[in-house]
Order: sequence, then C-alpha cells, then structure tokens
Amino acid sequence: MKKISVGLLGFGTVGTGVVHLLTNDQQRLVQQTGSQIQISKILVKDREKSRKMDQYDHLLTLNPSDVIDNPEIDIIIEVMGGIDDTRKYIHRALKNKKHVITANKDLMALYGTELLQAAADEGCDLYYEASVGGGIPILRGLTDGLAADRIKKLIGIVNGTTNYILSKMSHQSVSYEKVLQEAQSLGFAEADPTSDVEGLDAARKMVILSHLAYSIPVTLEDVKVEGITRVAEEDIQYSKKLGYAIKLVGIAEVEDDEIDIRVGPTLLPFNHPLASVDNEFNAIYVYGHSVGETMFYGPGAGELPTAIAVVSDLITVVKNMAYGINGKHIFLPLQEKKCKSSET
Ligand code: NAP
Ligand code: HSE
Repeated sequence: MKKISVGLLGFGTVGTGVVHLLTNDQQRLVQQTGSQIQISKILVKDREKSRKMDQYDHLLTLNPSDVIDNPEIDIIIEVMGGIDDTRKYIHRALKNKKHVITANKDLMALYGTELLQAAADEGCDLYYEASVGGGIPILRGLTDGLAADRIKKLIGIVNGTTNYILSKMSHQSVSYEKVLQEAQSLGFAEADPTSDVEGLDAARKMVILSHLAYSIPVTLEDVKVEGITRVAEEDIQYSKKLGYAIKLVGIAEVEDDEIDIRVGPTLLPFNHPLASVDNEFNAIYVYGHSVGETMFYGPGAGELPTAIAVVSDLITVVKNMAYGINGKHIFLPLQEKKCKSSET
C-alpha cells in the first residue's frame, strides 16, 4: 500500500485534533484514500511543554527545516498560526513540491491569492477549508455545491469566540471578562484574542468567503469592521427585552456590480434564524440568484470540529495524488475589483 508522509507545523488545539483523528481513524482513512497516512515530524515552539498526545514527543522539532525541507514528507499541515513565518514556510514547502493544508485565515485573507498562485505554479495543492467556519464545509459549499449560482449576499456569524461571549452574556448574565477566559480555555479564541473581539478574525473570514463567492480579489481594507468590545451587558439585556439578540455579523453583498463588506454587532429579531445560533456555533446564510436561500450551520471553532475540516482536506489531497491531479483545483479571483466600502 502507498505510504503518505505528513508533517505538521503546530501541535496546539487544532494540531492535537488532527493528530487525534489521524491516530484513531487510520482504518477509515485507508478505506477512503487507499493509502497509509503517517505523521513524520511536528514543528513546535516549546519542546518541554506537556502535551495531551505525548506518544508523539519523539517527532517534535524546533527546526522548521525538519518539516518543510524534509524529502520524506509529501504534505504539510500548517496549524501554527501567525503570518510572516507561515507565509515563508508555505512558499518554501510549495517550492519543495509539497502539498499544503492550512487553517490559517489571517494568512489566507492577506496572502491567499499569492499563495494559491504559487501552489498552482508548482502543481501543488493548497486547501484551507478550516480557515472559515471550523467544521462547516462552507468553502466547498461555495466552490462546489453552489458553483453554478451567482451569489447575491452572504450573511454570517463566523467567529465562534464572540458568539460564545455574546450568547453566554445573554443567557447566563456572566461578565465579558469571565466568558472570554472560558472561550480561551476551550481553545476557541486566537492566541491573541484581540483579533476575535475587535472583529478582525470575522473580517478576514469575510474576505475569504467573498473571494470565493464573488471571484473578486477582495482585501481587508475593503471591509468596514467593528468588534464587540463596546457592547455592554446592559445593551444585551435591554435588546433581549425588546425581542432582539445581539450577534457579531459579517455581511457581503453585491449590488450594481459593486461589493459591500462589513462586520459589526447587529440586532437580530428572535425569529431570525441567525438569532438562535449560540455558543461557538457559526452559521452562514448564502443567497443565490437561482437557489434562493441556503444556510450552513455547525461548530465554528474547537479542536475536533476544526480538525475534521483539515483532515477532510488531507483526504482530498491524497486522492488527488492518486489521480495525479494536484494543483488543478486552485480557485483564483477572476474579476476586476469594485468595492463600495473602499470608495465611501
Ligand atoms: P494554538 O493552540 O495556539 O497552537 C499553535 C501551535 O503552533 C502550538 O503547538 C505552538 O507550539 C506552535 N507554534 C506557534 N508559533 C510557532 C513558531 N513560531 N514556531 C514553531 N511553532 C509554533 O493555535 P490553534 O488554536 O491550534 O490554531 C492554529 C491555527 O488554526 C491558527 O491559524 C488559527 O487561527 C487556526 N484555527 C483555529 C481554530 C480553533 O478553534 N482553535 C479554528 C479554525 C482555525 P507550542 O505548542 O510549543 O506552543
Ligand atoms: N478564534 C476563531 C473563532 C477560531 O473564535 O472563531 C475559529 O476560526
């Protein structure tokens, strides 16, 4: 049987989930791919840290080259986060003809087009399903499931941490600080949660979704962003009395060939389907000209839901290797950019 060797960059929340699935679901992965997938090396920052899956301690390294330049490794899974180092590592891995899977929305929102072009040039795969919506297959939903439709509007709750905070503050009247700490210890929040609570994480995800939905090279500067730090407990309770939930919502819509993208706290009447999306769950409403309304819903953050998206990408890459079609499904923006928000 063909052996496929995988190297991980990062062994935190998502990395642990990926290793857990690769260890415990081996039989099913063999059935799905016809290949034996093994982990060869794992890049970490601190070798001494105690880890949930300590049986892999012998694979840990502090040297990125042991992973990205390792001739035995076929596929790199980037789950370490950050922008500058990961951008360099992924470029180098692609130059070394390794396929790449990443969960990194910060990187894909800023440098997605450049990295996808590099992957296409090298004939390599670059998949990033986990970068938006955790376990929800929203990227495939847009590029495959709804590929035939013209998308009019996307409305999404795309940040699990802020949704967790807002729904706990609404239902249990707990303080913002306490519930943010909870979201951090559950592994939902970013290493620096400022990007969650200031709306930047959601804005980056809206950039990725807009790119795929509208085939336009949108940038972060095109998004109007407001986070939840100015939402007080009283605002939440008062809105509740009036029949509204406050949610951090991202909207991207196209009108007269112009795209308008914004993220901010939004009042949703209780009978709106997004108003009952609670805790770390995410939901993305997609309005297509022909399909009408669709909604993608599920866990938007956390170890195993996110790892499912990563390992599903891995299965696709391994199948592509078997058929010799790697690098053939890269989705690059096609149209000229026209953004309403950048002109106002
Ligand atoms: P995390 O728990 O903070 O883990 C990061 C891992 O990367 C750790 O193992 C860390 O090493 C390693 N690392 C970080 N910087 C490094 C460096 N400069 N050199 C070597 N190793 C480094 O992060 P996470 O929550 O798993 O998130 C990882 C990525 O997935 C991020 O891009 C995040 O945005 C994305 N993501 C996360 C979720 C989620 O629910 N958590 C969901 C979707 C996408 P040590 O273990 O030694 O510290
Ligand atoms: N910090 C992110 C969130 C992780 O809370 O949604 C999932 O992308």
